[in-house]
Parts: sequence; C-alpha cells; structure tokens
Amino acid sequence: MADARAIPPGLLPVHFLGTGSYLPERVMPNSELESIVDTSDHWIVSRTGLRERRLAAPDQATSDLASAAAVRALQDAGVRPEDVDLILVGTSTPDMLFPSTACYVQKQIGAINATCMDIEAACSGFLYTMEVGRQFVQSGARKYVLVIGAEKMSSVVDWQDRSTCILFGDAAGAAVLGTGSGRGIIHTVTGSDGTLADLLKIPGGGSRNPITSENINDRLQYIKMEGQEVFKRAVANMTDSAKQLLEESGLAMEDVRAIIPHQANARIIKAVGQRLGAKEGQVYINVDKYGNTSAASVIVALDEAAREGFVKSGDLIMFVVFGAGFTWGASLVEWGTGR
Ligand code: ACO
Repeated sequence: MADARAIPPGLLPVHFLGTGSYLPERVMPNSELESIVDTSDHWIVSRTGLRERRLAAPDQATSDLASAAAVRALQDAGVRPEDVDLILVGTSTPDMLFPSTACYVQKQIGAINATCMDIEAACSGFLYTMEVGRQFVQSGARKYVLVIGAEKMSSVVDWQDRSTCILFGDAAGAAVLGTGSGRGIIHTVTGSDGTLADLLKIPGGGSRNPITSENINDRLQYIKMEGQEVFKRAVANMTDSAKQLLEESGLAMEDVRAIIPHQANARIIKAVGQRLGAKEGQVYINVDKYGNTSAASVIVALDEAAREGFVKSGDLIMFVVFGAGFTWGASLVEWGTGR
C-alpha cells in the first residue's frame, strides 16, 4: 500500500497560505420560497436541512464574488496580487462562455503577472481546482497559485421547479497555495463517471443546445436533476472516496480532526458521516445557512471552520466532494502548519 503521508523526495510541500470567502448580503429564507413555489419550510428543512441561502445582486457576476473572496485570501496570506502567478477558478456558472472567469478576476484584483483559466467539475470544482493548483506549486512551476471556487447558482436555477430551486445558493471561496514547512496537502483522490452525465445538467446554452428562443421556451438554460439518483450516488461515491483516501494514506478516521464535506444536503452529509463512523462534532456543516453553493461549498466551509476555531493549526482535515459529471474526490490536508 502506498504511504502518502510523506511528500515524495524532490517534491515540495504545498500549503494553504491564506483563505477568504464572500457571501452575498441578500438572505433568502425558506419562507420566501413558499411564496414562489408550492413548498414549505417544514418540507425543505426535513428533506435537505436548509433554512436559508444567499443570493447575489442582479449586477453581481461570479467573478465579482470570486474577486471579493480572492482579495480576502491574499490579505490572509500576506501575498500581493502582482505576486500571484496562476489563477484557477472552479465554476459552472462562469460570467460568460469565454473568456474565463479567472481572467475577469485577474482584471479586478490586479494580478497582472498571473496566467488564468477556469476548471469545470460542478460541485467538485474547488477540490479539482486545488488539485491542479497543487501540482503547479509542487513541481516548482509556479510560486503562488490562487485557487477559487465561485458560483452564482441563482442564475441557473429554475425558479418554477420546486425540486431544485430550494437547494442552491451563491458564494465564493478562495485560497492561496504556496510552499512551506510541514506537510500541507497530503493526498488527494479523484474520479469521474461520464456515463451518468445526463442525471444532473444544464442542457442549454452550450454547443449541444445553443441559445434559441425555442430552447429558452423549453427552459433548457436551467438545472435538470434526477434528485434521488444523485442522492444515492453522492452518498456512495463520497463514502468510497473518503475510504480510499484514508487507506492510501495509511490513516484511520480517528486521525482526522474534521471532515469538511460538500454541502449539498444535510441528509447526504449525515449518511456519509455514519458510513465513515464519524464522531459527533467531527463533520462541519453550514448547508443550513448557505445551501448548495457548488464549487464554492468546501472552501467557504473551510474558511468559516478555520475562523471559528473548528480547525486549528496541525489538525488533519478531510475534504470529500461529489458533483455533476459525475465527479467526486477527497483530500487530506494538514492545516495551518505552513504559514
Ligand atoms: N416542496 C414540497 N414537495 C416537494 C418539493 C418541495 N420543494 N420538491 C419535491 N417535492 C415533492 C415531490 O414532487 C414528490 O411528490 P410526490 O410524491 O407527490 O410525487 C415528493 O416531494 C417526494 O419527492 P422526492 O424527489 O422523492 O424527494 P426526496 O426525498 O428524494 O428529496 C431532494 C428530493 C431533496 C431533491 C433529494 O432527492 C436530494 O437532495 N437529492 C440530491 C440532490 C443534490 O444534492 N443535488 C445537488 C447537486 S449534486 C450534489 O451537490 C451532491
């Protein structure tokens, strides 16, 4: 069995040098949804755990949310925008089909020396973005990489579909990756299954179904989801990813201080925690306040968990994610030791 606890010789340890997040001011409680679709606060809380979510202002695009989070992460890390040499944005709600949202972030924060690109892995977006960023830093190809998860889900939610519009929210989170002492990002596993791509998608607006008045009338520009199938696969794949990660790292659940799971649904999180044998207080949950913010979810949760003292320097934390594609993954990080 591979021992991933030690960084292989010749590779640099990669750390979170700083984190930041941005939540839009506007709060939408479940009671407001009761006046939009046929639903109830009781149904939403009991089936999802959500109580409220944040919505971006009409004039705020994903890059605006991302830039606000990025500025906070740079301040936290003590890194100047001009010292960032790569910006990666995980998002499925880009400002536009092109250019990349990362280029708009570059413009807003003044990271004039950065190369910029987006990474699309839906709700797994931050973990995938972090994993790509890690490899750039670990190989020595880049020094400071800004990795961002940002979404304006309210722009792709069908406000006439009660089975999906209750689930999502808008947010952004960012981290500055760089080298340092200690272990940092210890190990990551990822996987995808494109044969299940049609179970969760936005069918319109791309090259398959371009924007036409007919496609808009058919509401193809909004999220379509087979909720129960997504639920089952999310629980299975998140559990399997976490187990694979621990096994390949030679660690057990007792070694992990905090699990920071993708915040899709409190029932999914609870089911994964039970299957992993997580203890009370080991799993971080904020889906009740923000809903499913897709690619932003785990980095917003980490930033909040760190500021609240839920995770402390030296703690081992585990991300575990699942999203459309399907995509999934898990990552083990020694928190805070590289700063
Ligand atoms: N309010 C009231 N009733 C509703 C609502 C609503 N908002 N939505 C659906 N219902 C109704 C349905 O119409 C159905 O009624 P019927 O029995 O008369 O046909 C009934 O509630 C049960 O519907 P189900 O779909 O069986 O409800 P379920 O318990 O599966 O919950 C949910 C639905 C919450 C969508 C769940 O399947 C889920 O969370 N799936 C995962 C989805 C997810 O997280 N997607 C995000 C992207 S992927 C990811 O992040 C992991």
